[in-house]
Amino acid sequence: MAARMLDGQALAVRIQQQEIKPKVTQFIREHGRPPGLAIVLVGDNPASEVYVRNKLKSGSEVGFRADLERLPATTTLADVLTLVERLNRSDAHDGILVQSPLPKALGPDAAQRVFDAIAPEKDVDGFTPANVGLMVQNRPALIACTPSGIIELLVREKIPIAGRHAAVVGRSDIVGKPMALLLMQRDATVTICHSKTPDLAAVCRQADILVAATGRAGLVRKEFVKPGATVIDVGMNTVTDPAVAADLFPDGHPRLARFRERGSVLVGDVHPEVAEVAGALTPVPGGVGPLTITMLMMNTLRAAESRVARAVPR
Ligand code: GUN
Repeated sequence: MAARMLDGQALAVRIQQQEIKPKVTQFIREHGRPPGLAIVLVGDNPASEVYVRNKLKSGSEVGFRADLERLPATTTLADVLTLVERLNRSDAHDGILVQSPLPKALGPDAAQRVFDAIAPEKDVDGFTPANVGLMVQNRPALIACTPSGIIELLVREKIPIAGRHAAVVGRSDIVGKPMALLLMQRDATVTICHSKTPDLAAVCRQADILVAATGRAGLVRKEFVKPGATVIDVGMNTVTDPAVAADLFPDGHPRLARFRERGSVLVGDVHPEVAEVAGALTPVPGGVGPLTITMLMMNTLRAAESRVARAVPR
């Protein structure tokens, strides 16, 4: 039987419209201003342009003040840090997000230095050491948006986590590591896999919940998946190689036709054939991506609520 598709897009719209927006309206009524989100975009990476546009659009739609702070690709690390410092002090901004990747010219540790400079209470990406540390200790924190969006999806789709075996493929600071921790905190038994894991397919095949976050198009094949398992695809890979596209989609598939028209196709880390064995599966696009943005909205609202609560001593 074909896997049930987990519609992240529909869930994202529902959470934003029915849960976040009314709270934003109430926040504005009580505090006379909207929650404020500042997004810093350095340079002109085309994928980042799209992500940032979507984040700003969602921010405006839920009623935030959503400001884009652009810096040219030729900017210096000092300029970026100065901008972050200004936003840390800004009364109008409750959340700060610096879109990554930063231009290579800023140096190999630029992203780390910039993320470290964000005030933890405004760190709506959940990337600062303070928030990562709080999350590891299962204390209240701003948590990275993609893994928290995946937990939200599993919970709302009533996919059991406690007592289940979860495998996370990929060990990035942004997705893999926090994902594994959040699943563990919900009482899953978690295996973290990566490029050096021997017999990756056999390890993944033990999982009831399989999260693929490797950045490798179609890496997860049918033989990686226990029949009936839930498969979460975090990948957002732009494929331009006709041989790769032909391996992903059979002849006559509408997405292969679209690839031939446009010369590229957006695919996840999970091969489409997995739909034949998985019990539930997130599509790409329209699965995890919209929930990542929704969690960014949720984090910004929470950051705003915490900030006003701190400003008014009880
Ligand atoms: N680039 C790709 N994903 C993300 C994200 O979640 N946050 C930031 N800041 N940059 C990204």
